[in-house]
Amino acid sequence: MPGTLKVWPDWPEFTSSKGEADPTGSLLKYKQEIVSINGQENIQKSWLKVCKELETLTDEIAEKGTNIIPEVKYEDMLNLSEEKKEELKKRGCFVVRGVVSEEQANTWFKDLKQFYLDNKSDISGWPEETPFVLRLYWSPTQLAARSHPRHLRLQRILNEFWHDSPTSPTTSPDPLSYADAVRIRPPKIPFPGLGPHIDAGSLCRWVDPAYRSVYDKVFAGSPEELDLYDLEKRKDAKQSMDGGYHSTVLRAYQGWTALTAAGKQEGSLLLYPDVKTTIAYVLLRPFFSPPESDKEEDIMDASKWKFDISSGWFPGTFRNESQRAAPGSHPHLRVRECMVNIPRMEPGDTVWWHCDMLHAVEVEHLGENDASVVYVAATPTTEINKAYMREQVKAFLDGGKAPADFGGDYSVDRNESEFKGWVGEAGILSGEEGRRAAGLVAL
Ligand SMILES: [Fe+2]
Repeated sequence: MPGTLKVWPDWPEFTSSKGEADPTGSLLKYKQEIVSINGQENIQKSWLKVCKELETLTDEIAEKGTNIIPEVKYEDMLNLSEEKKEELKKRGCFVVRGVVSEEQANTWFKDLKQFYLDNKSDISGWPEETPFVLRLYWSPTQLAARSHPRHLRLQRILNEFWHDSPTSPTTSPDPLSYADAVRIRPPKIPFPGLGPHIDAGSLCRWVDPAYRSVYDKVFAGSPEELDLYDLEKRKDAKQSMDGGYHSTVLRAYQGWTALTAAGKQEGSLLLYPDVKTTIAYVLLRPFFSPPESDKEEDIMDASKWKFDISSGWFPGTFRNESQRAAPGSHPHLRVRECMVNIPRMEPGDTVWWHCDMLHAVEVEHLGENDASVVYVAATPTTEINKAYMREQVKAFLDGGKAPADFGGDYSVDRNESEFKGWVGEAGILSGEEGRRAAGLVAL
């Protein structure tokens, strides 16, 4: 690999021998189906185009590093020029500064920490030994962050980056408050569990017909025409096949709202700041095998790769997990150089990334203080999302239980409503709009 990072964490590599077993050949059939629809020639055409694009793109990312991630002040998001908006959409990630004031974020953090300490014996988290992604969904801080008027307004703006049919009665940019966990990450404890991955499912991108249709252009030889902001296509995509640890909700953008300051090497986020080419490459990769030669120049020469669907291996794909990528299995991405740190975050800042974006969380937190974020996404209104919200609000009203996406293997046998400091519905801001987003007004 050219110009490898001095330090690359011990994140897993993916090989066919460690891939998902395919005893019945069903994985192979998924590949064959895509080839029969699109033709080998088109898939090869796309492969060469995407790898060519990556040659210059990866140089640009490696050279600019963190500076390539756009930063916008909250106020400027309210009046974005078309040009700026296109830049944000192309990158697929950006920081929005000052969504709430530093003072507000500090208060939220203080409240959250107190809530955690007061109820610690009943709060589990991940990883099990040193939990810091806390299985908490309804603390006053989370309720307020999701429904704060400035936050909700931003969520709406981000949902509007996507387009649907003007006549579609079932979708809208009206934000929904997807209840996710919260993080209070203490310093000095390494955590390797979140290497490069893409959320919103994995194998289902190739398998579910509605989901696959989002990427038609990639398989049809025109990856440059891929539109990752088409809500009309994406709204029916099934992000989960057989359960597993997945968000079943379409999030236009995933997001972190910083409650504390954190910079590089403080448990921060790494992003691959070009969403379209990356996802196209990940989707095409299973249809090719590398040249016999292990010389770097041969491996990096896409024309030397063979079209090959003799096996059912999808590199880095395990159906019930997020899609993974690694330097060995996805060499043209040059992830060692192109996973770049987000800029330093201050309390009240937010960072957003498209649901197809490759991202990771730093292994090290070498700072001195807790690094805390609330996971607040921009979630548009769709039929699937509304159906989820109707269940989510039941969990909330039924004593503050864990929402369905977090219930599975992590079933929580306690009600947050019994916690000291519980405020329930009173914690939701923004009046009717906040209540609608939370699912408390009939959807
Ligand atoms: Fe993730």
